[in-house]
Amino acid sequence: MNFWILLESKIYKYNLGSSIVDRDTEKVIESIRKKPYFIAVRDIIDVNSLLDIGCGNGLVTYALGLDKGIEISQCDIKDTRHPTVLQLPFQLASIDKLPYGSEEFDYAYVQFVLHHINPESDIGEIFNGLKRVVKKGIIIHEEIATPKTDLARARSYDEEMNRQFQPENPLEVFRYYTREEIENLGKDSGLNLERHLVLKKGTERDDFLQKHLFYFARDNC
Ligand SMILES: C[S@@+](CC[C@H](N)C(=O)[O-])C[C@H]1O[C@@H](n2cnc3c(N)ncnc32)[C@H](O)[C@@H]1O
Repeated sequence: MNFWILLESKIYKYNLGSSIVDRDTEKVIESIRKKPYFIAVRDIIDVNSLLDIGCGNGLVTYALGLDKGIEISQCDIKDTRHPTVLQLPFQLASIDKLPYGSEEFDYAYVQFVLHHINPESDIGEIFNGLKRVVKKGIIIHEEIATPKTDLARARSYDEEMNRQFQPENPLEVFRYYTREEIENLGKDSGLNLERHLVLKKGTERDDFLQKHLFYFARDNC
């Protein structure tokens, strides 16, 4: 291929908001923006700051930051961030030991992380820790087991998907929570469930794993 065409298609950069993003990444961000979960989250958050826990490539909350004009911070137990988000504050940290001050952020965002948490961690304490670092609330986007879910098959489907999307970070699936379990974990930490959405009902292909979005608000809001 002609060098200049290659340059144009692969590394030509242009401005998106305040950041420099290549064209392929811009396409990924555009597709994230159209997802129902993204639209729902954009609608929930209003002010200042958000901590993305288990951020993976970090593009989802990077796009939220651009759209809402809020400060995004990210953390994960591994650094697999996309080059585009490297300017955002990041810490290597586990959800069960968040190295942040009390009420340091308005929101915490936890997307597709809970089912990867080692069962040796105390999930009740994790919810208490999430509540500690926020002023306003916690958004959880999670794969949820239903009575129809064959857990072994769902687990192998999920692990295969992760291998495809994040080959550099093979992830074990430890357990799926039910809707009631997540609701009770929030309640036991003194959080109020303000919004709950079933975003994907699940199909035979993914063994009827559903996708749910929970927004838990702190009681002082
Ligand atoms: C399926 S990926 C989801 C990534 C991102 N949230 C997204 O939706 O694109 C799960 C992420 O959780 C991270 N993770 C697993 N256990 C964690 C823990 N104990 N604390 C923080 N992050 C964790 C993994 O490293 C991985 O990046």
